[in-house]
Amino acid sequence: MSSINYAEKIPNNINLANDRTLQRALEHWQPKFIDWWKGMGPSDFQGADVYLRTAVSVDADGWAQYGAVKMPDYRWGIFLADPVAERKIGFGDAMGQPVWQQVPGEYRSILRRLIVTQGDTEPASVEQQRLLGHTCPSLYDLRNLFQVNVEEGRHLWAMVYLLHAYFGRDGREEAEELLQRHSGDADKPRILSTFNEPISDWLSFYCFTYFTDRDGKYQLKSLAESGFDPLSRTCRFMLTEEAHHMFVGETGIGRVIKRTLEVMKELGTDDPARIRAHGAVDLGLLQKYLNFWCSSSLDLFGNEISSNSAANFANGLKGRPDEATYEDHVLREKTFALHTPKGTENVPMLNAINEIMRESYLKDCEIGLKRWNRTIERAGYPALALRLPAANFRRSIGAWAGQPVDPKGNLISNEAFARELNSWIPSEQDRAFVKSLMIRVAEPGKMARWVAPPDRGINNLPVDYEYVKLH
Ligand SMILES: [Fe+2]
Ligand SMILES: [Fe+2]
Repeated sequence: MSSINYAEKIPNNINLANDRTLQRALEHWQPKFIDWWKGMGPSDFQGADVYLRTAVSVDADGWAQYGAVKMPDYRWGIFLADPVAERKIGFGDAMGQPVWQQVPGEYRSILRRLIVTQGDTEPASVEQQRLLGHTCPSLYDLRNLFQVNVEEGRHLWAMVYLLHAYFGRDGREEAEELLQRHSGDADKPRILSTFNEPISDWLSFYCFTYFTDRDGKYQLKSLAESGFDPLSRTCRFMLTEEAHHMFVGETGIGRVIKRTLEVMKELGTDDPARIRAHGAVDLGLLQKYLNFWCSSSLDLFGNEISSNSAANFANGLKGRPDEATYEDHVLREKTFALHTPKGTENVPMLNAINEIMRESYLKDCEIGLKRWNRTIERAGYPALALRLPAANFRRSIGAWAGQPVDPKGNLISNEAFARELNSWIPSEQDRAFVKSLMIRVAEPGKMARWVAPPDRGINNLPVDYEYVKLH
């Protein structure tokens, strides 16, 4: 008999206390996860008391319980959203058939691949962000960083649960490898390239949580449609947490803009050099960061034309985000007008699922921009409005890979592209300037000079609450 109280140590709604096989698999994996967390998670803050939310159940009271926790003691739990009674597959050739509670043999390796690819991004982002704590602009921000980090850790748990519970030995091996690949590692990098880019400053962190966590949202939404019900339920619960990550990005960028506009008003100028000399981020520089992270995140959706995505859709494994909002769920008859360097091509819609996802993702990205631009317009600078780069700008995957395209989407000469690139994405000099702003502010309520305070604190606490006790 094991002496571990599973409900206490690993909050769950999968009846872990009565599942010996799963317990054994997790008992083997959990210490390795903790080692990974201590070695590759947030550097230097393992002894700090952090005001974190923990999910202890999936209902309204339980999914966000707040309290001070040392991160290595965080209770990473395993939760599935409540089952939908008599749920049916909602798209593809098997549409209308009952969903699967076990992995169908013929889809075993592809489902494992989908879960591993999603799972790999979760610890990757924790690794990418591990040094950020040293330069936090406030304790409020530091707490938000750690909240995102522990939840990405929980998302890893969620995927590892699926691997352990449904994929036998192969699944256990994959779960080990999720802790062995590392972001930016020359020999064993993370699977997707965006997750190997270091995030060494907080402007990048806000952009990452705005753009790349939103890619996560879209991937989770499409997996939440899956005919493999345990995957669907797992992803549906992860989405509730993901919303906070994007909130950190949207409000973070909004606060940078607010501060910049204050400085512009104070100085009576929009001259970037003077704004920078005053220790704030000029809007042109912010635009470059948006261009960089948006284009990098767009690659995560993969090739515009993909027979794998077509098969995953046709087989009911991975749908479109918000599948129910579409009319046709089979897509055998429809075509899609695809914009390529050679002109518009009509392709079978089933093969263009990635592009359909990318388009709906970009629409979602626009929402924050509208909000930010209202502030910029109200301050009297409509000409400085921010915009998303065109979907074909700076792509390294798909039809536009390596094509010299400007941020408006025009195909230009290679020379012009090379000449202008530093005016579209952060140059060495820009990055050095942003780095110079990254000075730790760790007094309750105080903010770094390049970012405005948030409108409100966490969980109704004041902004000047000591969200992280550093000791
Ligand atoms: Fe995540
Ligand atoms: Fe996330």
